Amino acid sequence: MAPQSIMIKSTGSYVPEKVLTNLDLEKIVDTTDEWITARTGIKTRRVAAKNEATSDLAYEASKIALERAELEPEDVELILVGTITPDMFFPSTGCFLQERLGAKNATAMDISAACSGYIYALVIANNFITTNSYTNALIVGAEKLTSIVDWEDRSTCVIFADGAGASVIVPSNGSSKLLAFDMGTDGGFSEQLYIPGGGSRNPASIETVTKKMHAIKMNGNTIFKVAVNKMRDTFVNSMKKAGITTDDISLLIPHQANLRIIESLRKFLHLPKEKVYVNIDRYGNTSAASIAIALDEAIGKGLIKRGDIIGFAAFGGGLTWGSAIIQY
Ligand code: ACO
Repeated sequence: MAPQSIMIKSTGSYVPEKVLTNLDLEKIVDTTDEWITARTGIKTRRVAAKNEATSDLAYEASKIALERAELEPEDVELILVGTITPDMFFPSTGCFLQERLGAKNATAMDISAACSGYIYALVIANNFITTNSYTNALIVGAEKLTSIVDWEDRSTCVIFADGAGASVIVPSNGSSKLLAFDMGTDGGFSEQLYIPGGGSRNPASIETVTKKMHAIKMNGNTIFKVAVNKMRDTFVNSMKKAGITTDDISLLIPHQANLRIIESLRKFLHLPKEKVYVNIDRYGNTSAASIAIALDEAIGKGLIKRGDIIGFAAFGGGLTWGSAIIQY
């Protein structure tokens, strides 16, 4: 018989050692600590070493999650890596991760949904596990966004950063469950946040390099406005599907894109500050990794206990958005 639902059995996270402060950025672009703090909430972020690729960050986080789940690498059945900064176009980052872990029996693939990547991976894992296709999944959000930012573009280089978070997902017939999820996509906004060069539309050439078409291009204002609305809508949809109100939520873990976006969602939901997890001040925007890292930190700090109802909400390039309500 197929299990009724899933549980997050364990988590792990990893951020690179190197800390880049706002004061460091003042020396690189025309910006100030005051502007970055006031407009984004970010004070520091982590930057991976030159020889560290996304799969290396994913590996460190996954190792911790697997150890905590007491799951041997060869027993992992499914690996899903949410990322927009794969090591290479192909093979997938999941393949590199599988090899490094020694998870030789796992099927591995990447999910390209930008900042919604962890939630998309969670839902995909849920659907495989509750249909009895797999009995466990390692889901990972991992990014080396500092490898795709234009270090002369002050509107993006101050925001994006590196890190990874991993979770082991297993079947559950008990109180731990995925109560509801909601996901959506609007490709109409694809050119508001994207990397135009390097794919089949604009293959790499001297021109694409000269025009910096391999770096993130973002219309921050447009993304900001849509993000505020989409985060609200998707989270309300998930709450309705789960049959809960905000009073039932122990902790909301939003994608860490901008403190003002997080605050707008928190105020809309009338949640007190202590019920919304924030670490953007320390890590910046790590896209698909952000919720996964925050979840691992919140569990580590004892902010989430088994049985608690927690929420996730994200939006990202695509545009994509997604939310989930979990009974942990
Ligand atoms: N330092 C100083 N000034 C700056 C900086 C900076 N780092 N960046 C922009 N400015 C300037 C602009 O040039 C502009 O100057 P002007 O008025 O002279 O033209 C002024 O500040 C205001 O610019 P805005 O873009 O209107 O600033 P805003 O308050 O919107 O903040 C920001 C910009 C932080 C990018 C914001 O729009 C934002 O967070 N947007 C959402 C981005 C996001 O969340 N993306 C997430 C998805 S991530 C993913 O999927 C990979």
